[in-house]
Amino acid sequence: MDFRKCCFLLIVLKISQAIPETPKIFFDFLNESKSSIGIIFYCNKSLDIKQWQNVFISEPKYLAFFDISTNNLSAMEMSSVMNFKYHKIAVVADLTCNQIEAFINAISGMNFFNASYYWLLLSDNYQTSVQLLERQNVNFDSEMTLAVAADNKFDLFDVYKPSNKYRAELVVTFKGIYDEKFKIILNGTKFQRRSDLRGIKINFGVTVADNKNQTLLEYLESEDVFFTDVVHRHHYRLFKLLAEKHNFSIFLHRGSHWGSAKNDMMEMYAMNQIDASITPLRVILERLGFVDFAVTTWTITPTIVFRHPKNSLRNAFLEPLSLWVWNSILIILFAVSLLITATIRCFRPVGNAYFVRAFMNAVSIMCQQGFMDSFPHLSTRVTILTFIFFSQIIYQFYSSFIVGSLLTKPPKTINNLRQLIDSRLEVGIEDVYYNPDFFNSTDDKLALELYNKKFLHGKSQGTYYPIDSGIALMQKGGFAFHFDTSYGYRLVIESFSDETICELHEMLLFPQRPVSVTSKKGSPFKELIMIEMLRFAENGILSYYNGKWKAKKPRCESSITKIKAIDLEDASWVFILLSAAIGSSLITVIIENIHYCLFYSKKTPKISKKVIVVKAKK
Ligand SMILES: *[C@@H]1O[C@H](CO)[C@@H](O)[C@H](O)[C@H]1NC(C)=O
Ligand SMILES: *[C@@H]1O[C@H](CO)[C@@H](O)[C@H](O)[C@H]1NC(C)=O
Ligand SMILES: *[C@@H]1O[C@H](CO)[C@@H](O)[C@H](O)[C@H]1NC(C)=O
Ligand SMILES: *[C@@H]1O[C@H](CO)[C@@H](O)[C@H](O)[C@H]1NC(C)=O
Repeated sequence: MDFRKCCFLLIVLKISQAIPETPKIFFDFLNESKSSIGIIFYCNKSLDIKQWQNVFISEPKYLAFFDISTNNLSAMEMSSVMNFKYHKIAVVADLTCNQIEAFINAISGMNFFNASYYWLLLSDNYQTSVQLLERQNVNFDSEMTLAVAADNKFDLFDVYKPSNKYRAELVVTFKGIYDEKFKIILNGTKFQRRSDLRGIKINFGVTVADNKNQTLLEYLESEDVFFTDVVHRHHYRLFKLLAEKHNFSIFLHRGSHWGSAKNDMMEMYAMNQIDASITPLRVILERLGFVDFAVTTWTITPTIVFRHPKNSLRNAFLEPLSLWVWNSILIILFAVSLLITATIRCFRPVGNAYFVRAFMNAVSIMCQQGFMDSFPHLSTRVTILTFIFFSQIIYQFYSSFIVGSLLTKPPKTINNLRQLIDSRLEVGIEDVYYNPDFFNSTDDKLALELYNKKFLHGKSQGTYYPIDSGIALMQKGGFAFHFDTSYGYRLVIESFSDETICELHEMLLFPQRPVSVTSKKGSPFKELIMIEMLRFAENGILSYYNGKWKAKKPRCESSITKIKAIDLEDASWVFILLSAAIGSSLITVIIENIHYCLFYSKKTPKISKKVIVVKAKK
């Protein structure tokens, strides 16, 4: 730094021409604009190249010098001089030179006053410089700084035209000063200084798919119908704010198709009809040639939603224990019955139906019902005692599981596409452009299987459902619907009961799709839109509108207020078991009676009476 200051002194001492601190201000300007290449157009009276070399000697910058008073550069030469691809370039031109007017006209004719170059125009007279620039091709995104020397400092001015297309007037705003202590003091940021676009029209594209009987503006301004596509109206409000802030008006171009690469939004971009679009777009390779993507402002959330069916594969009463445990319990039941039979037989060899009685005892112990026989022998008692412990512990597990399962939500068994395909649910798909697009282009095997099995059903074409009828089918149950939840959920909240909402289950077919605000490739308003949208995000305006327009997943409230009862569907097994038992015992009774009538009643009725009589007499 010391070295540079020393050089600066040298310059001040040596150069006594119109503009003194040229190398230093250009050096700071290069750093400020983060350029690594500098081009200096000068005339021999105004500058001493040696001084420049001294200032820049320790800097890894590339400098090129052109004396416009001696060299008359042709257009070809000019573009080769100015052409440094992929680098930021800072250019300084000395407006005090005599030949400068012809030079500036040539530069402007070749459109070099655009965002690719950082221009620093050094002048000693504000009035004449502004008059000169008014006649030039300056655009809204031009990076042009007019530095007017005024005793020992520079006044810096920002120069732009709101639009080149409409012969807009030149706007010069105060940018800051470059003071005696070599500091650039800026007045506000670039877009604070460029807040006034002088009421120009900017062309915006918007696509609204279906023909509503409202005018486009009525539709965009409307607030009421919340459950159709909301994204256009959401973004229309963002751009209206932008228009208010920057004093331009929105000129709408309506397209009828929204998304894919060959729709009319892209056509409007390709035909240069629009500068930006209100409808946000997804980043797709084919679009990159026409469109600059700015800021992601919205996410499309296509989701498969369905009422999860109850798990009816297994009986609720068998649920607590696994099949293995049930089988082991059965085996133990038999083993214990056999053991009891065996011990009883050893000590009491007379009598019959030991095993049946032992089995009845074992079952009633297992079911916590006590036992009916008395067991005087130690060995039987040991068996019985341990079996009581065993049954008690199993019973604890069993009943606490049942209680617990009534208090918690049942686990969902359909959690991925495979399980959905294998389930009995029907699948419907919302009628939006990106769904057919997805199925036409995807190579995901599961998605294709879902499409063929559940959507086409072997036919050549399936039906896509409009959002409201799809959701109505979903409400009936047994129907999984793939729709954009960002507005569809509003309909769900309005029409579903609390219990139905609690049954809802979500699944993704393809990832959520972020969409961005876009502008035409190379549009002068690109940076404005990008920075202002980021500012909206920073201020919370974006999240305010997102919260307002995007429906959230409805919350399941009833689990807190209501305890679920076991319904007939779950308990039916017990009733079936009981009626089967009643039925079979009736049949058994009938068979027993018939058997009795056939074999005993005819042969022995009198004998039995006699026996009774005899017994009575004795
Ligand atoms: C600026 O103009 C030059 C020359 O016409 C061109 O190569 C460059 O792409 C332009 N830059 C922008 C951002 O339009
Ligand atoms: C700074 O810029 C604003 C406009 O952005 C202007 O109103 C204000 O006067 C400027 N400040 C000075 C000191 O000129
Ligand atoms: C917007 O631009 C128009 C046209 O130049 C101008 O008359 C008006 O004053 C500007 N409005 C604001 C708020 O700057
Ligand atoms: C659109 O038309 C339908 C019937 O054709 C009518 O019921 C509805 O009110 C109209 N909507 C508007 C916004 O005019």
